[in-house]
Amino acid sequence: LQAEALTKVEEAIYLSDLQDIRVAYLGKKGPITEVLRGMGKLSKEERPVIGELANKVREAIATELDAKKERLEKEELEKKLETETIDVTLPGRPVKVGGPHLLTSIVEEIEDLFIGMGFEVREGPEVETDYYNFEALNLPKGHPARDMQDSFYITEELLLRTHTSPVQARTMGEYQGAKPVKMICPGKVYRRDTDDATHSHQFTQVEGLYVDKNVRMSDLKGVLNQFAKQFFGEDREIRLRPSFFPFTEPSVEMDISCKVCHGHGCSVCKGTGWIEILGGGMVHPRVLEMAGYDPKEYNGFAFGMGPERIAMLKYGVDDIRHFYTNDVRFLKQYHKA
Ligand code: PHE
Repeated sequence: LQAEALTKVEEAIYLSDLQDIRVAYLGKKGPITEVLRGMGKLSKEERPVIGELANKVREAIATELDAKKERLEKEELEKKLETETIDVTLPGRPVKVGGPHLLTSIVEEIEDLFIGMGFEVREGPEVETDYYNFEALNLPKGHPARDMQDSFYITEELLLRTHTSPVQARTMGEYQGAKPVKMICPGKVYRRDTDDATHSHQFTQVEGLYVDKNVRMSDLKGVLNQFAKQFFGEDREIRLRPSFFPFTEPSVEMDISCKVCHGHGCSVCKGTGWIEILGGGMVHPRVLEMAGYDPKEYNGFAFGMGPERIAMLKYGVDDIRHFYTNDVRFLKQYHKA
């Protein structure tokens, strides 16, 4: 029996053969189990002899099975290693990855630049009260300048903010005249406008506010000049034109020179060679006062810019709607490698 089993083990080719042999010879219904089960029928003298013999045979077969199993497993592994070699020089399959939206990148770039000049980044609610959106900015109810910003009203007192300027009033109101403010606020704003290539009912703004003792118009000009040069290139110039906002006095609009071409092509710029990119001015004394700042002690400047406008200028985007229709072919052009 032992010899027969060992020959079979020797001849086995597959691991599954070994399992069959194990079941056939050593299993519950196998001959050895049968012998051991029949022990009761044997005489006292025969029992230890037969028992010892059966155990020896079982052990011999089991040992051989284990050894063979190890050998077969090793062989199998070697075969696998041989046949399953990977050609690491084959080109990989490209994986599609997303990237930040152009607007997100632009806003982050603007943030980094102003953080570098010591501004903190703040946020405010998109659903705003009439008070912060208008009244605290020197635009009382019935003020004709409210018509400059057609609004989406939710209730009589609540609206979708038409600009990020309410965050000026909120921040100053929070500090109550106790310390200087130097912040920017990026965010979405909403206006009742008909969408076309240059208008959108929803767009983004970045507000800037610096309130301290002895802040001057030249500080505003210096900061904006720095921004224009860092953002658009050293060869850019800025010019300030008089303008009107109820919450700044005097008010300005800033143009940037646009005769220059950059990596992504030339900026769209017709006529004068200047293009308007933001509004700003010196914070109106009434605005300071309403927020708890003494206008005799404190003054400041504020500005508001539109990142879409800036991105359109910087990259020659010809339609503001590209930012919101999210055609990946458009967006992909601006993903950094
Ligand atoms: N809030 C103004 C607008 O949306 C821009 C602005 C901000 C002007 C701050 C002056 C100071 O048009």
